[in-house]
Amino acid sequence: MPHIYTKNLTLPDVIDDIKIDFIGEEVFSVICDGEEALFLIKNRGNEYLIKSEKHTRLSKTSKIQYILSKISNVLDTTTKNIKLNSEIKSGQIEIRPNYFCKNKIDYTNIQIEVGFGTGRHLLSLAKNNPDILFIGIEIYKPSIEKIIKQCELQNIDNIRVVNYDARLFFETIESLSIDKIFLHFPIPWNDAKHRRVLIDKFIVEVDRILKVGGSFELRTDDKIYFEDSKLLIGDSIEYINRNIDITSKYEDRWRREEKDIYDLIYTKKEIKDNEKRDKIDFSFDRSTPKELYYLESDIIVKSTKIYKINSDIYLMGVVMGSVYSAEYKYILFDRGDVRYYQSYPICSNSNYIAHTILRGLINECN
Ligand SMILES: C[S@@+](CC[C@H](N)C(=O)[O-])C[C@H]1O[C@@H](n2cnc3c(N)ncnc32)[C@H](O)[C@@H]1O
Repeated sequence: MPHIYTKNLTLPDVIDDIKIDFIGEEVFSVICDGEEALFLIKNRGNEYLIKSEKHTRLSKTSKIQYILSKISNVLDTTTKNIKLNSEIKSGQIEIRPNYFCKNKIDYTNIQIEVGFGTGRHLLSLAKNNPDILFIGIEIYKPSIEKIIKQCELQNIDNIRVVNYDARLFFETIESLSIDKIFLHFPIPWNDAKHRRVLIDKFIVEVDRILKVGGSFELRTDDKIYFEDSKLLIGDSIEYINRNIDITSKYEDRWRREEKDIYDLIYTKKEIKDNEKRDKIDFSFDRSTPKELYYLESDIIVKSTKIYKINSDIYLMGVVMGSVYSAEYKYILFDRGDVRYYQSYPICSNSNYIAHTILRGLINECN
């Protein structure tokens, strides 16, 4: 973790291309290249430790190092742990869960694979279809690392991967924007069906994000999963032991064991009412910070620490969203004006519900 130790804390308003936005006793914020970055100040006896705040991630990891090195030049720095120019190459391939809310996507055909595992199917599709953008979603980090390495080795530039729960990631995708969705050999979880990827909420999202004519393909070796999914999906075509061009590691194993393989293919035929989703509004009313706590069904909203910057400015940490994947955000209260510090939460339904509750709770307190 990059950090510096310093004897004094007197920072100028501007250091080259860095602007010191605000500074309190325990935190300070800088703006670099149009992006806000938060740093913690820890009192360590006769000196201070300065390090970046871990929940506020920047677009490039090297930016933290860059800012700290600039700051260390103007302070009475005793120790520093900074490595410049250590940008990771994978920056292009691995995306954040807010990708679809924040970026304009140049591809007209976008396809998704949920739980790509070794990535064999995804890599092969991407290599054979350079004009299509493929999004791979995986909760298992080593699979993400492995496919990034393969993309680099094989010069594949039309894959993006996200390390997130597909059920929540789908909530962030624009309606009617996806051409194809693959779900191959999901874990059946027959004894704990609520853990499955293919649950009722997921199907609603699949239907919402697919273009008309777009399709969703489930491939499984598990008869119970297949039958349950048929009931959930409804109008779809089914196959047994259909041959496909690219088989995965799991498929090869089931075929060696002579197990049946079931496919369900759902094609979207028309636009439905639930697809006209308004843009999520993450604004607040004018207010002041207070401690707050809410936990009901699977939504949590909880304030953590409130930093006083001065008598007019406060920064409040909050944990918010689905209890299964809550986000840690900061809210800046600047002379009554309130906004999310650095960036909005990921634009999922759960976060929007949490935001609405949070806004209400803050208003109630004032
Ligand atoms: C049985 S493996 C199948 C892998 C690959 N599709 C294949 O056919 O070889 C299931 C994969 O789904 C991933 N997975 C499970 N739940 C997930 C979720 N909610 N979101 C994204 N990936 C998930 C697992 O980490 C695992 O890699």
